[in-house]
Amino acid sequence: MNVRAIVLAAGKGTRMKSARPKVLHELCGRPMLWYTLRALRDAGVVDIAVVGNAELKQCLNEFGVRGIVQEPQLGTGHAVQVALRELPAWAGRVLIAYGDMPLVDDGIFSRILATFDARPGVALAMVTARMPLPSNFGRVIRSGDNVRAIVEERDCDESQKSIDEMNAGVYLYDESALRGAVEKLNSINAQSEYYLTDTVASLANSGKCVIPVDAGDYRNVLGINDRVELAQARKELNARLCAAHMREGVTIVDPERTYLEPELLIGRDTVIYPNTSIGRLSQIGEGCVLGPGARLSNAKLAERVIVRESVITDSRVGAESRIGPFAHLRNNATLAAEVKIGNFVEVKNSRLDRGVKANHLAYLGDATVGENSNIGAGTITCNYDGQQKNETIIGRDVMIGSNTSLVAPLRIGDGALTGASSVVTKDVAPGERVAGNPARPLPEKGSVTAAD
Ligand code: UD1
Ligand code: MG
Repeated sequence: MNVRAIVLAAGKGTRMKSARPKVLHELCGRPMLWYTLRALRDAGVVDIAVVGNAELKQCLNEFGVRGIVQEPQLGTGHAVQVALRELPAWAGRVLIAYGDMPLVDDGIFSRILATFDARPGVALAMVTARMPLPSNFGRVIRSGDNVRAIVEERDCDESQKSIDEMNAGVYLYDESALRGAVEKLNSINAQSEYYLTDTVASLANSGKCVIPVDAGDYRNVLGINDRVELAQARKELNARLCAAHMREGVTIVDPERTYLEPELLIGRDTVIYPNTSIGRLSQIGEGCVLGPGARLSNAKLAERVIVRESVITDSRVGAESRIGPFAHLRNNATLAAEVKIGNFVEVKNSRLDRGVKANHLAYLGDATVGENSNIGAGTITCNYDGQQKNETIIGRDVMIGSNTSLVAPLRIGDGALTGASSVVTKDVAPGERVAGNPARPLPEKGSVTAAD
């Protein structure tokens, strides 16, 4: 595709009042800039340069784009001057977008590319949107069907302020026309900045054709300049994410109180109750019930899992398991099918086989628990000896009595049993029953001792 993109992201972000570059502030789990880059790539634009300050440039590797440093930041026009001086000239089109507009999707980029192609001889196509007033966007001054100028809000007179067609901040230039216009900019305006938007009047005045491309709904092009706008954009983006999943067969009881991120997989007929957040590439199977109050991050759930008021991070849960209320699975907890984890149970870096139950008040860390074993209320794997973490291996069909302390490293054989309040410090053989502190073998069932 004969197009390259320059994304402007070096601005001081003064209105954010932040130590971080504005475009690295996150919404729905991704930095603002991530959305712009994804939309450009989805529209087929692969040659992308990002203009940033020195701090942002250091972070650009993870985005897989070329970084260009603009220091100092003297305005959007200056940012483009700096970029074009660094990029070799070519006889093509250049798409310019701002990194503070994460709601602009690939549809808008595709539309501006198609419109430009359909109108030979155009020097610039730019996206505009009708918006409710007042607005801090630049105003579009028209001459018939063409654009004659953009006036920044702070430079507008009263009559210009009443114009409700705004510059959305997405431009597609013929690059040689842009190179000429951008070098002519000056900074005589309310902000003493070099405005990219002044290239519009410069091109129009020299007889070149500048055409508008309608953005449709103005909410598609809202920019983020402060934290109020950040919250508004997050809300809009989240609404879009929820709508997309609902259209694919997920029930979301209250989308305004459900917090999603891009790139999630959620199976159909899953129901999500309010105050639930799902993030970091989580995958949810079909027919699950999540929430109210579930927090999932990098969680992989199979089918028909129920998670209520619980936190699951970096963990997997098998089909038809039930988690919560008030449980915490973290750091590689791996649960097979039909596992039950109840109130105030924490599972960390452990594997629980099919049918395991830990229904109340327990900590299982660095443990393996075999099929159908029952972990009594108050059980703790004492996995840390002050120096290192140690493993607890529990076999199948084991009964761990209430309030058992399992002092790792430890092995409990298949079918074994520990009595209530045991402190188990030594391995327990298959079928063996132990109790006490420290736990000792109990007499065989039915055996008679001398004391009897
Ligand atoms: C800009 C437009 C305005 C438009 C609005 C849409 C200009 C002069 N004005 O205003 O017409 O309606 O966007 O959201 O372009 N940046 C740099 N270097 C700089 C200054 C800014 O890279 O020296 C970057 C910023 O990081 C930001 C983008 O350019 O991502 C836009 O700058 P910003 O200050 O947010 O411009 P607006 O006031 O929003
Ligand atoms: Mg802005």
